[in-house]
Amino acid sequence: MISEIIQELDHIKANFETDSKGVDNDKDLENLRIKYMGRKGSVTDAFKYMGKLPNEQKPILGQKLNVLKTEIQDRLACIKQELEGQTRQKINIDVTLPGQFFFLGKIHPIMQILDEIKAFFMGLGFTVELGQEAENDFYNFEALNIPPDHPSRDMQDTFYLPNDLLLRTHTSPVQIRTMEKQQPPIRMLAPGRCFRKDTPDATHSPMFHQVEGLVVDRNTSFAELKGILLAFSRKIFGPETKIRFRPSFFPFTEPSAEVDIWWEDEKQGRGKWLEILGCGMVDPAVFEAVNYDPEVYSGYAFGMGIERIAMLKYKISDIRTFYNNDIRFLNQF
Ligand code: DAH
Repeated sequence: MISEIIQELDHIKANFETDSKGVDNDKDLENLRIKYMGRKGSVTDAFKYMGKLPNEQKPILGQKLNVLKTEIQDRLACIKQELEGQTRQKINIDVTLPGQFFFLGKIHPIMQILDEIKAFFMGLGFTVELGQEAENDFYNFEALNIPPDHPSRDMQDTFYLPNDLLLRTHTSPVQIRTMEKQQPPIRMLAPGRCFRKDTPDATHSPMFHQVEGLVVDRNTSFAELKGILLAFSRKIFGPETKIRFRPSFFPFTEPSAEVDIWWEDEKQGRGKWLEILGCGMVDPAVFEAVNYDPEVYSGYAFGMGIERIAMLKYKISDIRTFYNNDIRFLNQF
């Protein structure tokens, strides 16, 4: 009896294989499913033999039936997937059409230069400090040895906020904040926004960016400062760049200098010196404001305007173009 039933199952399987060959659409597939797996389908039907067998033979048949059932289910699922693939191909896109056009975001030129500057100094072991844009008189002026009658303290030049706060006019206050929270050696870079009450024109903007650098250690020297700034200028403006140190004055450095780069004008066939940054050896008065012993420590500092560097490097003549967000300008970088 059981061997006949098993033969019958083989039959069902063979029939299914023949029937499934011609299936090429969803409707045929559904009919095939109903014919074998539906409520009155051959596989479902075959389960009735279970009741006709003696108990000890039931597990043998049960296992055979289950195998057949899963085989047919798997095969049906397979055919379904194949059909889906085919319809997808029928309505499929023309792969030779040009792709859809989309815009990639870009990094603002100011941030590109800043990234370059940061990469250079971080390679020399500088850390990046952020400070804060709303400062008070002590950090922005007093601790930096800027005397009470200095013009930059004037209402005309500085944005004063309520509660004795002001918008920092340079990134130099970050020097003080960093020295207050840590002991030498210090090698720090402080990039950020600064604010001055300037009427906007081609070279002035009430908001602009600076990068500040500060090194404090036991044996620093002006020679080291010169070496670093020469390497820096060549990194940004090219390996042939010539620079000069011109004596200058800043209240927080002594001696102080401004650095110029030699700028060749290809069109006019002439060159000229253009200022790119201020620097100097940290004034002992600044060390005293943060309780560092000027007999033990020395240091150097420098500060530069990022817009100015970007304008020189990319030959941009109007600082306002950085902030207008004109896509035709920004797309060029
Ligand atoms: N803070 C100066 C300014 O805003 C720039 C500067 C000059 C920073 C010399 C320095 C420095 O650290 O040593 O114009």
